[in-house]
Amino acid sequence: MSRIDALMARMTLAEKLGQLTMSAAGHAVTGPVIAGDSTQSIVDGTIGNLLNLFGAGPVHEVQRLAVEESRLGIPLLIGLDVLHGHRTLFPIPLAEAGIFDDTLWERTAREAAREAAADGLAMTFAPMLDVSRDPRWGRTAEGPGEDPWLNARIARARVRGFQGPDLASADALGACAKHFVAYGPVTAGRDYAAVDISERALHEVHLPGFAAALRAGVATLMPAFTSLNGVPMTAHIPLLRGWLRDEMGFDGVVVSDYNAIAELVEHGVAVDLVDAATLALKAGVDIDMMAGAYRRGLPVALAQGRVTIDEIDACVRRVLRLKERLGLFDDPYRRGASAEPASVLAGRRALARDVARRAIVMLKNERATLPLPAAPAALCVIGPLADASSEMKGPWWGAGEHEPATSVLAGLRAALPQASIRHAAGVAIEGGDDSGIDAAAALCVGVAAVVLCLGESVTMSGEAASRATPALPGRQTALAEAVIARAHATGIPVVAVVFSGRPLVIPWLAEHADAVLAAWFLGVEAGHALADVLTGLASPSGRTPMSWPRAVGQVPVCFGERPTGRPMSADVAYTSRYQDVDNSPLYAFGHGLTYGRFRHDDLQVTPRRARRHDTLEIRVRVRNEGPREAEETLFLFVRARLSRVTRPVLELKGYAKLRLPSGDTGVVKLDLPVSDLCYLGPDLQPVSDAGEVEILVGPSADPAGLLRTSIELD
Ligand code: IFM
Repeated sequence: MSRIDALMARMTLAEKLGQLTMSAAGHAVTGPVIAGDSTQSIVDGTIGNLLNLFGAGPVHEVQRLAVEESRLGIPLLIGLDVLHGHRTLFPIPLAEAGIFDDTLWERTAREAAREAAADGLAMTFAPMLDVSRDPRWGRTAEGPGEDPWLNARIARARVRGFQGPDLASADALGACAKHFVAYGPVTAGRDYAAVDISERALHEVHLPGFAAALRAGVATLMPAFTSLNGVPMTAHIPLLRGWLRDEMGFDGVVVSDYNAIAELVEHGVAVDLVDAATLALKAGVDIDMMAGAYRRGLPVALAQGRVTIDEIDACVRRVLRLKERLGLFDDPYRRGASAEPASVLAGRRALARDVARRAIVMLKNERATLPLPAAPAALCVIGPLADASSEMKGPWWGAGEHEPATSVLAGLRAALPQASIRHAAGVAIEGGDDSGIDAAAALCVGVAAVVLCLGESVTMSGEAASRATPALPGRQTALAEAVIARAHATGIPVVAVVFSGRPLVIPWLAEHADAVLAAWFLGVEAGHALADVLTGLASPSGRTPMSWPRAVGQVPVCFGERPTGRPMSADVAYTSRYQDVDNSPLYAFGHGLTYGRFRHDDLQVTPRRARRHDTLEIRVRVRNEGPREAEETLFLFVRARLSRVTRPVLELKGYAKLRLPSGDTGVVKLDLPVSDLCYLGPDLQPVSDAGEVEILVGPSADPAGLLRTSIELD
């Protein structure tokens, strides 16, 4: 008899439901703690899983209670949100998406998993795979940005990174693909609001990331809080049972979001906790996170014959199998058994600096304002985010709460010890007090440049952090106006460094600052990384994974729009356009400048006439005509001339990078299997058509910069 069969034969209903229950640890000033009543429940076997507890000491202590003091000795599954690093915080996922590097996405997830596993954890509620085209939505910060192809690549890399080659090893975490599915298009960008989208959008845009995570072997999955076309995801039988289990063959664990089962009552589809628990179980949700619905509701539902013991058992088996796969039965203490050596931690910190540098997107650099002049005698570092080290960490800083982070001011002071650096915040991040603006602007004379650090506070992004106006909050625009006017009066350039968990609407700043860096939230090494880029030690190479709107009214703005019968024309009436703003984004998907200056030409595709099993080889010549070495990223898009349904005007199919010294020429190569050109036909089944396909390559989705050629598909 297998271990799981033997346990199942001995378990009481209460113990089974314990395995389907996840409880949260409490939080004290010193870190997470486990509350007294949970301790007893662990011993009783009525709590089988925990979230938000970390640290080898506390984790091993509760694990000891479960393994040595509970009747059946079943180890606990303990998880935490490790979204962008654990203690060593990396840039937010949105920022990392813009690095366009599969190896790096996997590596940071691997390092985060090692660090979290050394803290006793066995699972993480990551990666977050919700495509977002709406910067009002605060959770945009946690995800991949606007594109489904990019999302699928990130999904695969992240799952591999978190889980490593062997899920049972001491440094592996079980990953969780979340939030299933289509959480991104919440109504009007308001978190938790209902989602109403087409079946086609679901399959083309929102499911591919999850499919990629499943193919990579993701251990768990979390349904979204939201309803989709009228059905709450926590009770979505067609998608959770139909698509996920039956079609994709997922036999891992589905864990609900926090209290989401109980919220089925608020959604108006369940009358009480018994009803809610019944719906979630029927949909195949295995673990109830924090609703207490399974523990309290399922015994009643079972007694009333609304659920069967077989349905409960199937969930329990999946949870036990996950614990077995994670190696928890063989050695529940293996994670966190030894502290990581200082050299490993130092190496990870160095990685965090490198990743943060590479995530910075240079949106604008007029008259080569950046890098700053070498060895400047004096600089001004102004703004509410200039000396704000904890703001740098990003919204999921859980275990990194007490980790030191560097501010821009500290980073620049360390990088330029000879320079006299003047600093004033000028205004707070939020609020109407502008009494400090004049004094801040008055500092901006007789310096080589002004570095103006503006943006959002870290709490404006993440869960429950939607903003109707995703622009500079408070009086920051007034500060920018005063500082830029004063600096420009004497010819001093102004570099705006913009912190945010989303693209912001900053048309005025983008027009008037001489250079603009999108600094997102870069993690614990933010200040050093920004200093590296500002001083020219590193060339920026990040690209924005989301379009930056000119106005909130353009949202959702993305490059993957479908064509219209009346494409925009500036001088023809009755075409698809705004009267007050251009259709195009301020900065297109993929935009990002470097300290090089790249010219691209000679787009070659072979074969020009291709069959289904061919792979197209695409080449572009790239020349760096700039004064400095830099890394160029080129994107591959396709557009079919004729299809059975309308398709996005551009579809991303690849990216490639090339580092070139000043004056050098190289060739970027991309491979495109013809099978990647198939699409979902009128009945949402994959089809491929013969005919002309346009191949487009360029440094962003801005049509003006794309090289184009066509091939024929047989
Ligand atoms: O994993 C998260 C989820 O993304 C949002 N609600 C809370 C969960 C656990 O922290």
